[in-house]
Amino acid sequence: MGPRYDVVTIFPDMITGALGYGVVSRALEAGRVSVQTWNPRDYTSDRHASVDDRPYGGGPGMVMRYEPLAGAVRAAREARADRAEVVYLSPQGERFDAAMAEKWAGGPGAILVCGRYEGVDERFIEACVDREVSIGDYVLSGGEPAALAMMDAVFRFVPGVLGHEDSAGEDSFAGGLLDCPHYTRPEEVEDRRVPEVLLSGDHAAIRRWRRAESKRRTRERREDLL
Ligand SMILES: C[S@@+](CC[C@H](N)C(=O)[O-])C[C@H]1O[C@@H](n2cnc3c(N)ncnc32)[C@H](O)[C@@H]1O
Repeated sequence: MGPRYDVVTIFPDMITGALGYGVVSRALEAGRVSVQTWNPRDYTSDRHASVDDRPYGGGPGMVMRYEPLAGAVRAAREARADRAEVVYLSPQGERFDAAMAEKWAGGPGAILVCGRYEGVDERFIEACVDREVSIGDYVLSGGEPAALAMMDAVFRFVPGVLGHEDSAGEDSFAGGLLDCPHYTRPEEVEDRRVPEVLLSGDHAAIRRWRRAESKRRTRERREDLL
C-alpha cells in the first residue's frame, strides 16, 4: 500500500474532482495511493456551521476558526493507523520541491490542511500542525491547488504509478537536470525536422544526445541547478 493523504478542506469537491484524471486517477483506482477528504464544516457546533470568523484586531477578510479545523484533523488522525504528519499548506512554509516529493513517495503520506480567506487561527498551527509547506512565492486563494500539486508530484514517484518505471527518474529535476526535448510523428512539420539522431536507431547515440540536450537546456534556463 502506498502513501495515504487526508485532505482537510472546506471544498472537498475541488480535490476529488481534480483527482479524477490521468495517471493519478488510475493510481487511486489501483489502490497504489489513497486520498480522503475531511470537511471542517462537519466539525462545527453552531447553528450556521461557520468555519470562519472576523479577525481580532480588525482588518479585512476572515480567519478560519480553530475548532472546526482541529475537529477535522482529529477525525482524520483517528481514521489512520499511523502518526502521519499534519502539514499546513502555507505561502510562509518551507518550499516544496522534487526531492521532497520523491522522499514523501516512500513515506506513509500526511494530513494536508488547506487554508482559505486570510489563513487559519495561529493557535491551530501551534497546537495541531507539524510543518508548513509552500509550493512557491505567490499567494493562492486556498490551499487546495497546492495540495493537489503536491500530491500529484508525490504520486508520480510511487512505484507502479507511471507506466514506465523509469520515467519519473528521467523527468526534469530528478537527476538535477531539466528534461531533454521530445518529438513525435510526423518526421517533418512546417519545415521543422525531428533531429536525425532520434531516427537513427542507434540507442547509445540517442542516449548521449538526450543527456547533452538536458545539460544544454539546464545551462541555458536554470544555471542554478548545475
Ligand atoms: C489567501 S491565502 C492566505 C495568505 C496569508 N494571509 C499570508 O499572506 O501568508 C489562503 C490560503 O491559501 C493557501 N496558500 C496560499 N498560497 C500558498 C502557497 N504558495 N503554498 C501553499 N499554500 C498556499 C494557504 O493554505 C492559505 O491559508
